[in-house]
Amino acid sequence: MKISCRKKIALNSKKDAILIPVYRNMRPLKPLTGKKIEDEINTVVASDYFSYEEKEFTGFFMEIGGKLRKVYLVTVPKDPADYRYYTELGASFAALLRKERISSFSILSFEDIYLEKKDTNFTKSFLDGFAFGLYSFDRFKSIQEKNYQFEEAEVITAFTRLKRFVDENAEDWNSVFESIYLTKDLINTPPADMTPQIFVDKAMELASDKLKITVIDDMAVLEKDFPLVYAVGKGSTNPPKFLKLEYKGAPDTEQHVALVGKGVTFDSGGTNLKPSGSIEDMKCDMSGGATVLGVTKIAHDTSMAINIITYIPLVENIIGSCAYKPGDILTSKQGKTIEILNTDAEGRLILADALYEATKTDPEVIVDVATLTGACVVALGSFCAGLFSNRKFLAKNISDVSGALGEDIWELPLLEAYQERVKSDVADLRNISKQKGEAGSTVAGLFLQEFVDNWPWIHLDIAGPAFLHEAHPVFGKHASGFGVRLIADFLKANYATK
Ligand code: BES
Ligand code: MN
Ligand code: ZN
Repeated sequence: MKISCRKKIALNSKKDAILIPVYRNMRPLKPLTGKKIEDEINTVVASDYFSYEEKEFTGFFMEIGGKLRKVYLVTVPKDPADYRYYTELGASFAALLRKERISSFSILSFEDIYLEKKDTNFTKSFLDGFAFGLYSFDRFKSIQEKNYQFEEAEVITAFTRLKRFVDENAEDWNSVFESIYLTKDLINTPPADMTPQIFVDKAMELASDKLKITVIDDMAVLEKDFPLVYAVGKGSTNPPKFLKLEYKGAPDTEQHVALVGKGVTFDSGGTNLKPSGSIEDMKCDMSGGATVLGVTKIAHDTSMAINIITYIPLVENIIGSCAYKPGDILTSKQGKTIEILNTDAEGRLILADALYEATKTDPEVIVDVATLTGACVVALGSFCAGLFSNRKFLAKNISDVSGALGEDIWELPLLEAYQERVKSDVADLRNISKQKGEAGSTVAGLFLQEFVDNWPWIHLDIAGPAFLHEAHPVFGKHASGFGVRLIADFLKANYATK
């Protein structure tokens, strides 16, 4: 979508609609709208058709410059709310425009309505939500929604600071959403159409001279170098892969961050087969991988001044005669041995090898993202991810970004007292807790911690928010794209050099 900016609504504007935020006793809009539009709005607001009900859009037609255009009024709080308020408003406005098949609009900026000259994030938050709200996945619908295509959002503002902010960043915002849409598409695609190989092919399309992409798919090499990825993936006719992306956006330094994403393209549970009710959505088990791929693409497409190495172990966790088994003892890349007591605790295994690989290049921070435990959904619900870190400052830094974006995360402990719950009698570790039904997400985190050798590390368990059944006010249903903006903004704020 095109995003543009101007000082005043143009009478000869080609935009189909105008969105005007209002609240009681608002200051005059005339400088932005002109007298005719302002008079009309005042008449509507004073009429019985209008109530100051928040989040409701009141639409009416109006002739402007000889053309009939739709004007929407929406009530906002008198004082600015949290940014997420405007993100949610943007998402619901997108749903409305999609329904009414309106493909462009002008919006009077919230900053102008509130006279907030310095803080430019209200309009930005609205546009973020709007972009989320525009997404739909219709690849598998035989009757496609008739060629609706949103074209342009125009911000009306008298503040040069906001205008500059929009003009300078609009292109990057578009890149961010292209990446988020890619992440969502990858997750929404059914498992037969999103095998490890297909995921690799999609990633390869992103390669450029600044983004080097390599894949390990030779089974003998995988068995030797990534033994846990090999073990979990070997049961499937869609064989495992190990994907690595290297983005060099700060070529003058070797400093870099590492991203790791769980890439289970389908999690049947393996021999410990998942029951009905738990298995249907398990195409979403590569969400972590799709998320870190999206983040890496954002860094590349917006030329972020940072170096990133991204690791995505890709497997299908399937039932069958070649599959790994309960009772197997596997040796990880790092050397620790693991007694397998449940083949459905597969994510931590493939992540263990990937995390250990990530430690070997001295990263400033390792961030892993995974749909790791059902226990995390029980603890925090579908709209919130679990946050684990071995450094207090990292937990704080990423939480700060999260609050402002409305991508909710909550810290859970890596309790040392539970460490012995992953110790095995016959091997170094076991892949599930000794204590059933207790602190499953923490124990999974403690298992992962065994492989990061005390490097600065963040683990996000996105089992809840990655894939939604209950519509979220911003993400809607199904693949959410949760975490892409969160991690991209976290990296930009803390690790990019300019
Ligand atoms: N992929 C699942 C976790 C999951 C659950 C993701 C719900 C998305 C929604 C993971 O591999 C898994 O099966 N975890 C087990 C671990 C258990 C066997 C210790 C679980 O949570 O039940
Ligand atoms: Mn599983
Ligand atoms: Zn899984």
